[in-house]
Amino acid sequence: MIKIAILGFGVVGSGTAEVLTENQKIIEERLGCEYSIKYILDLRDFPESPFADLVVRDFNVILNDPEVTVVAEMMGGSHPAYDFSKACLEAGKNVVTSNKEVVSNFGVELCEIARKNGVRYLFEASVGGGIPVIRPMLNDLASNKITKICGILNGTTNYILTKMRDEGASFADALGEAQRLGYAEANPSADVDGIDAARKIVILAALASGKLISPKSIHTEGISSISLLDTKVAEALGCSIKLIGQAHVSADGLCALVSPCMVPKHNPLSRIDDVFNGILIDANMVGEVMFYGPGAGKLPTASAVVADIIDVIAHMDSELKTINWEEAVPADLTDFDSFSCARVFIASEALSFADDVTVVKTAQLDEAFAYLTAPLTEAQANDISQTNKNSIISVFRAL
Ligand code: HSE
Repeated sequence: MIKIAILGFGVVGSGTAEVLTENQKIIEERLGCEYSIKYILDLRDFPESPFADLVVRDFNVILNDPEVTVVAEMMGGSHPAYDFSKACLEAGKNVVTSNKEVVSNFGVELCEIARKNGVRYLFEASVGGGIPVIRPMLNDLASNKITKICGILNGTTNYILTKMRDEGASFADALGEAQRLGYAEANPSADVDGIDAARKIVILAALASGKLISPKSIHTEGISSISLLDTKVAEALGCSIKLIGQAHVSADGLCALVSPCMVPKHNPLSRIDDVFNGILIDANMVGEVMFYGPGAGKLPTASAVVADIIDVIAHMDSELKTINWEEAVPADLTDFDSFSCARVFIASEALSFADDVTVVKTAQLDEAFAYLTAPLTEAQANDISQTNKNSIISVFRAL
């Protein structure tokens, strides 16, 4: 009998207990062995919960119980989640997690500790909620070089942007609704400022390159300054505004960023709405593949956590190793000023551009002029913004 401990009985932790219990029979049939949840670590009491008897407050009860071989960490935040995960791995327990903050900041170290102790550290639920993406990248795309990842990686902001576009809702109202539905992080800044998406894109970039970039070191913009004028301009240019995480892997190095982007209607990411996430991956043998599904929420995220628990149990007696990442150093990164993509300039008056700038589409609204250009580097786009600083209202990257 495999004994499992759950760390954190919030939205995803309680969902994980629910999935493990509700689908116990079919999971055990597939695994050919039985399991039970032995402990749930939380500081709160849950007298109404069917799992109330399993709740413990002292982490050492779990750490010191040799019967517990699988620990699912869903506490959120770096501490004590990182410390508890590290202690469990050092004690020879497998750890699975939905905690992208811990994976993106401490993934190199935790994977190394897992390897040294002959156990596994898995984190399918850390990116894309319920969408299978990490295991497919590691397994099904293993014969490819991955050159580009581009995706909607945060369900909360996608929900907010969809409500603003389709219902003309204010940013604050849409955020409040996302929080009520349990999509948003406890601190909404992680979602709306792009921090959560930055953590996720560096995890995906590391799967592609083997190098983990610190999420704090990548260019990150959020959605809190997007106005209803911006959404009207997007519509006039045949685009939707989406918060996009992108990573580019080339012989020159790695580049990753998060920013709102104008996504043309012909790009499938433009049609991914509400809390759904979508991730496009360019790989040198298969071409472009897309992963799509619910990017946040209790049971979808728990579904991915339990997938890792099943993977751990199924391979408990094998030599299967956890992944091998290195910390990215400055030499692994490309110069961000030379990052190039299409741009949209929104201005209060007509703009004129230098000869080396190609305008591919324009739109004129009552209150603004908008220009979609062919790819420009960051340095070129910044020059245009600076030259026209008295009339520019906003500037977007575009896909
Ligand atoms: N707050 C996150 C999101 C939860 O909205 O995508 C899932 O990681």
